[in-house]
Amino acid sequence: MYNEMDFDKSALNSAPPIEEPARQYYYMERCRAWVRNFQKEKGRAPKACVINMGCQMNARDSEKLAGILKQAGYEEEEREAQADFVIYNTCTVRENANMRVYGHLGQLSPAKKKRPYMKIALCGCMMQEPEVVEKLKKSYRFVDLIFGTHNIYKFAELLYTCLESKRMVIDIWKDTDKIVEDLPSERKYSFKSGVNVMFGCNNFCSYCIVPYVRGRERSRKPEAILKEIRRLAADGVAEVMLLGQNVNSYGKTLEPPCSFAKLLQKIEEIDGIKRIRFMTSHPKDLSDELIDVMKHSRKICRHLHLPVQSGSTEILKRMNRRYTKEQYLELVRKLREAIPDISLTTDIIVGFPGETEEDFEETLDVVRKVRYDSAFTFIYSKRTGTPAAAMEEQVPQEVVKKRFDRLLCEIQSISAQVCAVHTGKVMPVLVESVNDHDSSLVTGRLDNNLLVHFPGDEELIGTIVNVKLEECKGFYYLGTRKF
Ligand code: 5AD
Ligand code: SF4
Repeated sequence: MYNEMDFDKSALNSAPPIEEPARQYYYMERCRAWVRNFQKEKGRAPKACVINMGCQMNARDSEKLAGILKQAGYEEEEREAQADFVIYNTCTVRENANMRVYGHLGQLSPAKKKRPYMKIALCGCMMQEPEVVEKLKKSYRFVDLIFGTHNIYKFAELLYTCLESKRMVIDIWKDTDKIVEDLPSERKYSFKSGVNVMFGCNNFCSYCIVPYVRGRERSRKPEAILKEIRRLAADGVAEVMLLGQNVNSYGKTLEPPCSFAKLLQKIEEIDGIKRIRFMTSHPKDLSDELIDVMKHSRKICRHLHLPVQSGSTEILKRMNRRYTKEQYLELVRKLREAIPDISLTTDIIVGFPGETEEDFEETLDVVRKVRYDSAFTFIYSKRTGTPAAAMEEQVPQEVVKKRFDRLLCEIQSISAQVCAVHTGKVMPVLVESVNDHDSSLVTGRLDNNLLVHFPGDEELIGTIVNVKLEECKGFYYLGTRKF
């Protein structure tokens, strides 16, 4: 964890500063005073539990929430029911993400009845949906704090307001163009970190709720990103994952503009950073410049997550993806020509409104032609307010389920073959942890994101070592270290 600002405690006697992040450091200090009182009363520090329910962007936000809670004096607690402050960082990309939140709240309600001073907070994408907030206000009165994605930087201030209030505190913004830098963060891993490069999305794929809940595209300034990564490197981080809904359109609105490829080149120069990953790439915006930078880079991982969503040009059009099947396949050809060992992964939606058997066959065809290393497959979920939700011809559930199973079968058999091609090679592995099931082994990742288990100990965590890939077990390798 790092703090960018040493807050002058005497300032606590005056009004909160207007400018950020000074204002938030002021409120962190106020929360600390609250925590000291709690400690005096209860004879222990309060405990906080941060539950991340979304994507990597959400996970990064959760690290920021945890950083602020730590700065405020909270201890970490993994069990929700045992914590004094629980915050759910929610997702809403598919309906089942929403259902999970209500499930968690239902389970937590008895704990709160037993310990009324417990505080429950909800934030993240799902809170940007007005119907959700209405439902919470009506049926989940025991929730104490609700805020959305645009004002997450205000968490310290909201936490303080919530601690001091007996009523439900709600603060949701429709949109923002503000980016607040230099707030604390508590990293989950010592050796790798997500780094936001941009927020929001302007693509408006017709099925997707993200542009409505994350707002318009905003890029961080290159200097702010580079400063953060230099600090991370100094702190022992070897791998960064650059995060954005659509990293390929990074920097277009900056003054002066800076392409994502240029940003990557600057990050490459930072000593100590050994691997650079990024996600997510939209196929329509993937530039030749980026392919060229990847090709010549020593640090950018040879892995690209390139969501195709569907193989049917007709469905892609209705999804507002702005590429055809042929253009996607051509992009893959170009990538493989430039970087023959690149590993490709994707996202696919099954059962988009109007998807016919022929459309689905086109998707299978793309899967067979591209031969992905792995693919995330999703059943289409209707999201209120998106154009696709109003489309007729929703595909019957039984049909979707059958297609989904067929797709999964195809993907699994291809990816088992694709993953096995490295058997016998010696490749660099970034060691991430001691193996969960066998403590004589450690687990690490290849540049292409595949997991490798091999004999080793804790000391190796965070280092890159050469490992001979002895045996492929479908989605991971067993290996031995080579000196
Ligand atoms: N239904 C199903 N899957 C969806 N995704 C986004 N919106 C929906 C939806 N309404 C999937 C896409 C995206 C991934 C993050 O989630 O495949 O790439
Ligand atoms: Fe991430 Fe989208 Fe879910 Fe938000 S709605 S957490 S941006 S996947």
